[in-house]
Amino acid sequence: MNQPNEPTATIGDTDRSLADLERDTWQQLSAALSQDKDGFKTMTLATSTNTGADARTVVLRQVDEVHKYLWFHTDARAEKVIQLEAHPNATLLLWDENRQVQLRLHIETRLHTDDYVADEHWENLWVGGRKSYLSERTPGSEQPAPYPGFPEHLGENLPSEQESKAGRINFAVIECRVLIMEYLHLSRKGQTRAQFQYEPVGKMVWLAP
Ligand SMILES: Cc1cc2nc3c(=O)[nH]c(=O)nc-3n(C[C@H](O)[C@H](O)[C@H](O)COP(=O)(O)O)c2cc1C
Repeated sequence: MNQPNEPTATIGDTDRSLADLERDTWQQLSAALSQDKDGFKTMTLATSTNTGADARTVVLRQVDEVHKYLWFHTDARAEKVIQLEAHPNATLLLWDENRQVQLRLHIETRLHTDDYVADEHWENLWVGGRKSYLSERTPGSEQPAPYPGFPEHLGENLPSEQESKAGRINFAVIECRVLIMEYLHLSRKGQTRAQFQYEPVGKMVWLAP
């Protein structure tokens, strides 16, 4: 229940306070995990490099609404892992066309390769997901001809459970602790922009769009 005179923004047909928006957004991130077509399912990960910046798409794999963490998977040999090891602070950018909402998440990352976090994600990954970790060649390395990213004999087939196990050594989980979440909703009635800071202290504010 919103407090009397508490400022609210109209999102769709409902009036939302800052606390409502924050809660709704984390619930939507959690819900996106089980929805293939949800705009929050894929995220652009922007990283710092020694010479500038880089960006690429990654898939949202786990959400902790309470503690404000997200997780995605990658190949432990990928360029983004090298960049994140040197510069652990990064940004995740999400856009949901249906909701007309952009999220900009300032994150602090942590790499998991040979610990229980990576083990747990690996155990829950189906063989089709494991297939991309079977690449014998370093991601991003130059090749004399197109290479599919997994042993060529597999073709369109899935690896067996036994074959898929060889991918574990290349598998990494990136844990993203959200420090700040910035929310932007586009509407002809007016844009809504708000910032939710979690670290170093909790703070919620409306921002001019
Ligand atoms: C829709 C889509 C989803 C993707 N999901 C992932 C992902 O979850 N993890 C990942 O490492 N790469 C993913 N990729 C590939 C990356 O965008 C990128 O091309 C690759 O990881 C190499 O990036 P890097 O050289 O910066 O490490 C995805 C690409 C697309 C188009």
